[in-house]
Amino acid sequence: MVVGDIATGTDVIVIGGGPGGYTAAIRASQRGKDVVLIEKEDIGGTCLNRGCIPAKAFIHSSKMYEEFLSKDEKDVYTKQDLDFSEVQKWKNSIVEKLNGGVKQILKKHGVEVKKGKAHFIDSKTVRVEEEHRTDKIEFENAVIATGSQPMEIPGLEFSQEKVISSRELLNLEEVPEELVVVGGGYIGMEAVTKFSKFGSEVKVVEAMERILGNFDEEVVESLQDANSDYTQNIYESAKAQEVKYRDDKAVLVAEKEDEEVEVEGDYILVAVGRTPKNVTEELGLENTSIEPDEHGFIEVDSQMRTSEENIFAIGDVVGQPMLAHKAYREGRVAAEVISGEPAAFDNQYIPKVMYTDPEVAVVGMSLEEAEDKYGDELKIGKFPFSASGRALTVDDTSGFVRVLACPKGKLLGVQIAGVRASDMIAEATLALEMQAYLDDIVNTIHAHPTFPEAFAEACEDAQGDPIHTV
Ligand code: NAI
Repeated sequence: MVVGDIATGTDVIVIGGGPGGYTAAIRASQRGKDVVLIEKEDIGGTCLNRGCIPAKAFIHSSKMYEEFLSKDEKDVYTKQDLDFSEVQKWKNSIVEKLNGGVKQILKKHGVEVKKGKAHFIDSKTVRVEEEHRTDKIEFENAVIATGSQPMEIPGLEFSQEKVISSRELLNLEEVPEELVVVGGGYIGMEAVTKFSKFGSEVKVVEAMERILGNFDEEVVESLQDANSDYTQNIYESAKAQEVKYRDDKAVLVAEKEDEEVEVEGDYILVAVGRTPKNVTEELGLENTSIEPDEHGFIEVDSQMRTSEENIFAIGDVVGQPMLAHKAYREGRVAAEVISGEPAAFDNQYIPKVMYTDPEVAVVGMSLEEAEDKYGDELKIGKFPFSASGRALTVDDTSGFVRVLACPKGKLLGVQIAGVRASDMIAEATLALEMQAYLDDIVNTIHAHPTFPEAFAEACEDAQGDPIHTV
């Protein structure tokens, strides 16, 4: 008998242990299902192990380092040399803590975690391959939560020396003297944020006319006014082509307005988006009726169900936006539907946050979309952080909160550029989901002095009678 010939059975199999997958596994287990979670690498997926969490830990420590340096200029602290190995250790300890926490919760709920690669044999059975073992598991329902991976560009494959993705960037042993970033999007700008503060000279090569093309122009300008790291060494309208090597440096060759430009660095970070890539082959989807689209995304309905009645898909693999908080919600929906509840992904608003310095957070309609729909009747309100008492007390007053509302005052969208934007966007998202009007926010008492007061002030401005602005 070959190991794996005899199949075991479970109610729910979840493939992928990232934010979407582990949430689905916990929720299904909470609803009384037998759950097996299969993960080929680490529980917590990209976000916890190789993305959001370690990146934010770096952003925090680089800011602390920069503050110590600037205070040193004022003779407040003694200048400290950066011990990057200690920063790495601290960052890794946070990842381990969170990773251990998720594993404990899975254990507490009786989720069986299996290490290995899952492959569908048919729509009721998967094969799980680990180094020396193959298991066959039959299931009632499956949840595909296999995430995404960094996109490669021809000429700059990750197999080439010194060409790295965000994963390797977060594990460098030393701060590079010069870093070339291909792609001025989320990952690119967050890389600028942390590595400029750690002391690298960071150079960005962006194919479009401006960096952060998916964010509002005024928001991006405010970011650039506040911090010259986002204006220096930025090559816009420059398309990365290939890598060459000179001495011990990598040289990125880009095409900019029909001219060739060369940008040199110790590493070339390629951050041009993420893709589910090869999902059919990797998961054996040809043995089911699921056919991903030309970009590799799996189509689902509002209950996260694929074309196979008993197979669900959630997270990055079902499409944009590829954000952990969207995956969390989808994971809960899939597990609740599997458990017979009338759940659906009916959220209309997904906030987007960028951990630059200052931060950027947006939710709902952009200015352009709202203007297209309401023209001159659109209500726009703005409150600058320079008028916020709380912002003054932390000596960080750049940026603004902008709110957009329809002629009757119903909130349409919110854009925040400034300190604590990542925290402030939660109230705006709740207000939008609750279909709030400007009045609802203005008449809610906001604690003073706090940053969210700026949101209420911007709403007052949209009504045309602000108290704290001239
Ligand atoms: P992105 O889509 O944000 O930005 C990619 C940029 O690369 C674009 O501006 C694009 O014009 C540019 N580009 C494409 N091809 C190019 C070429 N040949 N040469 C030069 N530039 C080129 O993708 P990114 O930054 O890789 O992030 C991937 C995803 O990860 C994001 O879409 C987001 O979903 C997620 N993420 C979210 C974060 C957050 O929520 N704070 C942080 C980091 C990543």
